[in-house]
Amino acid sequence: MANLLVLNGPNLNLLGIREPGHYGQTALLAIDQKLIDMAEQSGHQLACFQSNSEQEIIEKIHQSFEQIDYIIINPAAFTHTSIAIRDALSGVNIPFVEVHLSNIHAREEFRKQSYFSDIAQGVISGLGAEGYELALQYIINKLKFKLK
Ligand code: DQA
Repeated sequence: MANLLVLNGPNLNLLGIREPGHYGQTALLAIDQKLIDMAEQSGHQLACFQSNSEQEIIEKIHQSFEQIDYIIINPAAFTHTSIAIRDALSGVNIPFVEVHLSNIHAREEFRKQSYFSDIAQGVISGLGAEGYELALQYIINKLKFKLK
């Protein structure tokens, strides 16, 4: 059994009401529940954490050291600004998948820059809430073969 963590950054608590054209109609709680169920069905434990605060996300990553096997992270607006969250992920050396609901390459110029993509195992962007499920399925498959 592996311990998995889903991290969501600022404003993602507003999913469902926030700019549905970009981010869809599904609430974060529904996304989280689906991921928890998927993980459980594969014999893994998955926790979800959302914060609007950079500091809280960094603390959560630090607490994950030697506790969490894989992270799925949507850093939201911190994607484009936070060297500190990037450094936290590098510091704990936990493999992670970067997820974005919208296609960050098809929007404003400032969204094309990510401080995470080059150190992520992979990036899923533009597939809506399903992107989280695809990221989790990838991790579940990897764990089956005990590959990190
Ligand atoms: C986002 C894309 C970011 O540019 C934006 O700031 C978000 C959400 C996405 O999931 O598409 O808050 O990460």
